[in-house]
Amino acid sequence: MTVTKGLEGIVATTSSVSSIIDGVLTYRGYDIDDLAVNATYEEVVHLLWYGKLPNKAELDKLHTELSANAAVSQQVIDQLRAYPKDANSMAVLRTAVSALALFDEEANDMSLEANYRKAIRLQAQLPTIVAAFARIRQGLEPVAPKLNAAVAENFLYMLTGKAPDKVAIEALDKALVLHADHELNASTFAARVTVATLSDMYSGVTSAIGALRGPLHGGANEEVMAMLEEIGDMDNVERYIQDKLDNKEKIMGFGHRVYKNGDPRAKHLQKMSYELGKLTNNMKWYEMSVKIEEMVTGMKGLKPNVDFYSASVYTALEIPRDLFTPIFAISRVSGWTAHILEQYENNRLIRPRAEYVGPTDQKVVPIAQRA
Ligand code: ACO
Repeated sequence: MTVTKGLEGIVATTSSVSSIIDGVLTYRGYDIDDLAVNATYEEVVHLLWYGKLPNKAELDKLHTELSANAAVSQQVIDQLRAYPKDANSMAVLRTAVSALALFDEEANDMSLEANYRKAIRLQAQLPTIVAAFARIRQGLEPVAPKLNAAVAENFLYMLTGKAPDKVAIEALDKALVLHADHELNASTFAARVTVATLSDMYSGVTSAIGALRGPLHGGANEEVMAMLEEIGDMDNVERYIQDKLDNKEKIMGFGHRVYKNGDPRAKHLQKMSYELGKLTNNMKWYEMSVKIEEMVTGMKGLKPNVDFYSASVYTALEIPRDLFTPIFAISRVSGWTAHILEQYENNRLIRPRAEYVGPTDQKVVPIAQRA
């Protein structure tokens, strides 16, 4: 047996959803650089689910379907009220998404049509859940989704109860485009492993949310902001980063399993961080981030990943730190569900092996004689 720790370099499936080839990320053959500038998040969702960019009628239909399905059942809202107010927001999302299945009559219907409908409901309802809990924990009433609003606009509206400005909507929309899919990343793999047992889509997405939460994956964006806040000021950056690297500690938001010459999404987020910093008259987080990047890249050769500049982007949008990873999930759910649909289409149980390295030839002795 040859063990490949972390499955590095192992090709575990074929997929036509997205690819990373020579450092270039594509969704269904479209370069992320092209999509980031020229497509909205809903167009990308259509692309991931149906394999093509929508025409106007198809996009209108998707908008209508997402809008019509954005309200979450009262039972799930009541559950959100019962969760501890200080619960981790990813744990809340994981639990609430699991609960959605209990109130969806089609939860166990494995037909293609029902699975597409569930993908729509999941995409439509994740933002509603995240925004509702964010308000409930502050003692505020959840805000019902706005009809005919796109995902980014609706999320910001449900979070604040106010009409968001155009700049914020566009920035969030672009962040959602950039996070929507990423080949066989850890959370997508978790989703595919779960549904490859022919378990249902809600179970797959619940597994994925659990995997995304970890700080080595989507949870890194929150850790980046925690680091920036801990450093506090430009004057402290040098000593802080030097100490971390001297102690062989990881700097969150740097490094990647697949990209070794930089994550193509990071430059878009860096630009957004700069522009939003200028617009909000607060360049502090951006400038500190640039200094950290100079040091980490200079000393370790590690480049920022998608999570690094998204921290200062979301902060400029006045989004609380512990919603950064849920926002990642709001976007990645489109990729998860596209992969789940693809897994069902050509399924085989995913069941690798482990090389056993524990004790052998053990014999059961009566309990009274055991140490
Ligand atoms: N800071 C400092 N050193 C690092 C970092 C980092 N962020 N990332 C990797 N290294 C070092 C490791 O310490 C290791 O050094 P060594 O060989 O001297 O022991 C070497 O680079 C290889 O690192 P691994 O952790 O083995 O690389 P792996 O491919 O397993 O991990 C990962 C990739 C998890 C992304 C890693 O780079 C990391 O932990 N980064 C910080 C967390 C992060 O930003 N995660 C988000 C990734 S993007 C996403 O999931 C959305």
